[in-house]
Amino acid sequence: MFLDTPESVARRAARCRDVVMRPQVNFVADMQRRTILNLLTLGAVSVPYGWCLFGYISFFFPPAEGGGGAGVTATDALGNVVTFEGWLKENNAETRKLVQGIRGDATYLIVTKDKKIEDYALNAVCTHLGCVVPWNRAQNKFMCPCHGSQYDTTGKVVRGPAPLSLALAHVTDSGNGKVTLTPWTEQDFRTGQDPWWKP
Ligand code: FES
Repeated sequence: MFLDTPESVARRAARCRDVVMRPQVNFVADMQRRTILNLLTLGAVSVPYGWCLFGYISFFFPPAEGGGGAGVTATDALGNVVTFEGWLKENNAETRKLVQGIRGDATYLIVTKDKKIEDYALNAVCTHLGCVVPWNRAQNKFMCPCHGSQYDTTGKVVRGPAPLSLALAHVTDSGNGKVTLTPWTEQDFRTGQDPWWKP
């Protein structure tokens, strides 16, 4: 039989205190760790989810169109900005070559006989089924390779099955020598009718 001495009672009391206190200390540490982990997880997850949410919401709003009233600066096949000076240096009189225009459409810039850039450009998308129409210098026409439609030098349709002429755009200098294309909203000078294309 063991008798409790004051020392043994004190030791036992200290052990009990340890047992009672330890979980509380651990509990505080676990909570902190969990809070930090939660914050880290929230941070890691919120970026991709936020991005997806932005994409989902923006789906319901139409994008700002490059062909707005202010127009777009024409770029060449390499994405370089087209300037009047540079284009006329590289292209001879009476050439028709493609640039990227309104809404990113392939668009012909026309160099006139007297070596100026024509004040209108032609959208190169065939009005039949949407092939890009090449310029045929020998025939002096735009001739669609897909189903044989033809357009004259101004882009007016002269042979079907294409039902309509090539769409027009204005060519302007926005003040810094860059070729700028703006939507053509007036009557089509080739047909005397309102434009069939959406400005
Ligand atoms: S797409 Fe040009 S003629 Fe059919």
